[in-house]
Amino acid sequence: MSQPSDGISDKDSLRNKIMGMGDASLKKSYYTQLQEHVLNLEKSRMETEESFKRAEANKNLFIALFHQASDGIIVVDLESGKFKFCNKAFADMFDYHSENPLLSFSSALPSEDAENLENALRKMASGEIRFLNNVMIHKNDGDIIYADISGSAVEIENRKYVLAVFRDMTGARKLELEKAEFAAKINQSQKMEAIGTLAGGVAHDFNNIIGGIMGLAEISLDEVKDNTDLRDNLNQIITACRRARDITTQLLSITYKTEKKYEPVSFNGIIRDSVILLKATLPASVSIKVTEFAEDDAVLADHAGISQIVINLCTNSAHAMKYSGDIRIRTSNAYVDENLMQKNPELSPGKHFLLEVSDTGCGIPKDIIDRIFEPFFTTKEKGKGTGLGLSIIHGIVKNHGGVITVYSEEGIGTTFRIFFPLAADRVKSVVAEEYNPDSVKDALVLFVDDEELLVKVGEKILSNMGNKTVSFANPMEALAYFENNAESIDAVITDMAMPKMNGLKLAEKIHAVKKDVPVILCSGYSDELMKENTDMKDISRLIMKPFSAGELAKVLTEVLNAVKKQRAD
Ligand SMILES: Nc1ncnc2c1ncn2[C@@H]1O[C@H](COP(=O)(O)OP(=O)(O)OP(=O)(O)O)[C@@H](O)[C@H]1O
Ligand SMILES: [Mg+2]
Repeated sequence: MSQPSDGISDKDSLRNKIMGMGDASLKKSYYTQLQEHVLNLEKSRMETEESFKRAEANKNLFIALFHQASDGIIVVDLESGKFKFCNKAFADMFDYHSENPLLSFSSALPSEDAENLENALRKMASGEIRFLNNVMIHKNDGDIIYADISGSAVEIENRKYVLAVFRDMTGARKLELEKAEFAAKINQSQKMEAIGTLAGGVAHDFNNIIGGIMGLAEISLDEVKDNTDLRDNLNQIITACRRARDITTQLLSITYKTEKKYEPVSFNGIIRDSVILLKATLPASVSIKVTEFAEDDAVLADHAGISQIVINLCTNSAHAMKYSGDIRIRTSNAYVDENLMQKNPELSPGKHFLLEVSDTGCGIPKDIIDRIFEPFFTTKEKGKGTGLGLSIIHGIVKNHGGVITVYSEEGIGTTFRIFFPLAADRVKSVVAEEYNPDSVKDALVLFVDDEELLVKVGEKILSNMGNKTVSFANPMEALAYFENNAESIDAVITDMAMPKMNGLKLAEKIHAVKKDVPVILCSGYSDELMKENTDMKDISRLIMKPFSAGELAKVLTEVLNAVKKQRAD
């Protein structure tokens, strides 16, 4: 058995050889080196581990930042159009759900918008643009969002991507648009108001001039009985004056600033006049057919308001039919029953005047039909409509105690129905509701109003109460009667605005005959009584038109009781 020459066994030698240190490794210095080497290895392993941990922490931080960012962030592979990364804000912006994964623009948006965005990001990757402001993006569900987008190229594992940040500006943009829209509407309504003031001023002066011409022409007509040519000319002047007066009435109603005088009017007659005006303004391709079934058409109304209703409804219809087609106007007397009242609680039972305006236009979509009466609601293009037409109609109808309804089918047409209380019925139903059994009875009342129909209404109220009436449409005749029968008259009710002698003057003359007879003055608008120097000393009470039967009964009872008390004292 061979012995190792330097005392090292073959086994040790072999191990040293395998470890590559050979005999020299036995020297102590190599051993130290080895130890250092091992330590270094250990240190660098720990450092690697440390930096791995740091990288892991950084990665987690990055992921947290990425997903918690309020801006949408995506990394897009421009070749395939696929998203490599997409954060939560971006997914939220485009309604990402796990069952509807957001893989590319084309999976989330209509194709045109997807293409536009991909093109924009390409330009950002190439450095051509860096930022896009307020980009409008349609979503698949029809919603629109606005975003500010910035982007730049990034390289990941030797592949080119674009990193883009989307800031959702929808709320701010909508606010901005609403503000602009609101400002435009205010602008428009201020413009309307200015036009109305101007038109109203001009129309007022014109009415006086026209009234003068018309009056003189009418007087002259009597004086030239035998001259047929001259009579024809004068008649033409009168007809032209009437047309001019109608136009000024329309001008006044632009802003509905006309003094609202409620008086008994013929609804059918106003419709006829309004249709003449409409035919002059609408193209011949729009036909307006009127069928009058309503025999009873007397309503207590403001003339200008009613004609505005007809004009606005027909104008809307003409627009809905693109100015070609038939508008049908139908009037009838409708009986409001329980069934109708259940649907329209504002209606009162009984006979009404019903106006129907139908067209063969585009119809009104179900989702907007509830909004059409809102002020400023319009589907017309910007600047083409104020959206006030129907809201004005609604206001007028309501002021008259009426109801408006609409029925429409898309592509077929629309019908508006307006129920108006009839003059006499309105009076009767109020008597039924408000008439107080303690109201005065058996009095003799002198009733004066130049409007025949109002005289009838007054008589009816008073006789329903159990009183007697002597009535006149002419104040001079009324005064003459009073002068001869002063002792039997208990009270006088007179209109304010009457030709030849107004209500105040009549009251004064009546008191010159008999001091303590009470005089109730009725007025259609307060302005005429607000003038300086209006002396109300001869007036016991003022009552505004249109008054209800209950109101009249109450006032009459109060004044007669006061006189009784005075006489007793
Ligand atoms: N006959 C109709 N057929 C179809 N749609 C109608 C009809 N009448 C009204 N509408 C709808 O109701 C909306 C409101 O009508 P409204 O008369 O209040 O305002 P407008 O006509 O839009 O504006 P303006 O009256 O100032 O010209 C219209 O924009 C339209 O969409
Ligand atoms: Mg309109």
